[in-house]
Amino acid sequence: MAVFSSADVIAHLPAPPAAAIPHSRALQAEIQALIAQQPQQRITFQQFMQYALYKPQRGYYMNGLQKFGKEGDFITAPELSPVFGCCVAQQCHAVLQALGGGDILEFGAGSGALVTSVLGELARLACLPEHYFILEPSAELRHRQQQTLQTQPWFDRLVWLTQLPRSIRGLVLANEVLDAMPVQCFRVEANGASLLMVENHGDALHANWYASDGGLPDFISDLPVGYGSEFNPQLNAWVQTVADMLTAGLVLLIDYGFPRAEYYHLQRDQGTLMCFYQHRTHANPLIHIGLQDITAHVDFTAVAEAADQAGLMVAGFTSQAQFLLANGLEHYFAQAQTAPLSQRIQLNTEIKKLLLPEEMGELFKVMALSRDLTVPLAGFTHDRRRAL
Ligand SMILES: C[S@@+](CC[C@H](N)C(=O)[O-])C[C@H]1O[C@@H](n2cnc3c(N)ncnc32)[C@H](O)[C@@H]1O
Repeated sequence: MAVFSSADVIAHLPAPPAAAIPHSRALQAEIQALIAQQPQQRITFQQFMQYALYKPQRGYYMNGLQKFGKEGDFITAPELSPVFGCCVAQQCHAVLQALGGGDILEFGAGSGALVTSVLGELARLACLPEHYFILEPSAELRHRQQQTLQTQPWFDRLVWLTQLPRSIRGLVLANEVLDAMPVQCFRVEANGASLLMVENHGDALHANWYASDGGLPDFISDLPVGYGSEFNPQLNAWVQTVADMLTAGLVLLIDYGFPRAEYYHLQRDQGTLMCFYQHRTHANPLIHIGLQDITAHVDFTAVAEAADQAGLMVAGFTSQAQFLLANGLEHYFAQAQTAPLSQRIQLNTEIKKLLLPEEMGELFKVMALSRDLTVPLAGFTHDRRRAL
């Protein structure tokens, strides 16, 4: 039986724009050529996802097609409302004050929405960082960010990096970055576990399970036979790199995900892998390659373990709703009450999406990792570290 069924899914999705189809076909052909070069004629799902999202020029995040916002495939919290970034700025403000100044580094700045609202609010609070570094793997998004942000009064504080700085004192921000990292898909078998591999099937791609030869997280052995999910093999190295760089300050990771007990809950036995295509979600990553986002939720227990190993302190863990409320969201809402009715209605809708449990409020979590920082973190008054 096919691991991912194509016909049903494609029938329910809008067709890609004609101009995008050659991009997708060319990327698929490159992936097929890569598979054909392998001695066993297959690549891991992680390799496939790396190509589908990050193959230079063609991968989803690397090509010039619209991804963010109404015309794209999904809307992230900073895209949805500047209020999100204002609340993040409140937490940055407390940390920059405690450190007597410093820098901010943002991973994967997307359309530039978060930097715009965070620096806008920090400028208002007269607490701009010395530099705001952006590490964005996509040359196309880097270019787009530079175009969009060039008229901002704080533009001279922005520095685009192609590699991490040796050290940073201040804050590291990553909103919906961990969920965009390539994952490995596994299935528990009676005598071990299988990994999902991608292979050529005529002129299409096909996924199949093959016995794993190791390298899987230990907790998999506690899961029942038939259980399928995924894990992020790059996570430990990524957290270690961030830890090596941070001399003092705070890392704020915002993403959808759960503590491990919820992530690998017996009822979630099909994993969390999801594709976003023109504001529809579905579960087939082998279609519309390069034209759709592929994501997996974040195992925040794994992030906490990686931080612990890397010498960072897990300073807080909470839901997005609680983080925003504790960082003054109500104040921003109250401030807007003198605005014209249409703006108030729009803000109302945005805030509902940010806060409601069935929207982003509960599914999205915020984790704080720190080094040499003693300031109380207002955003984590409703701390859920015990759940990790
Ligand atoms: C879902 S988008 C989120 C964009 C933006 N943070 C937002 O919230 O609107 C994922 C972003 O993460 C970036 N990304 C993925 N892996 C990364 C990594 N290892 N380092 C830095 N950025 C990364 C992608 O290029 C993309 O810009």
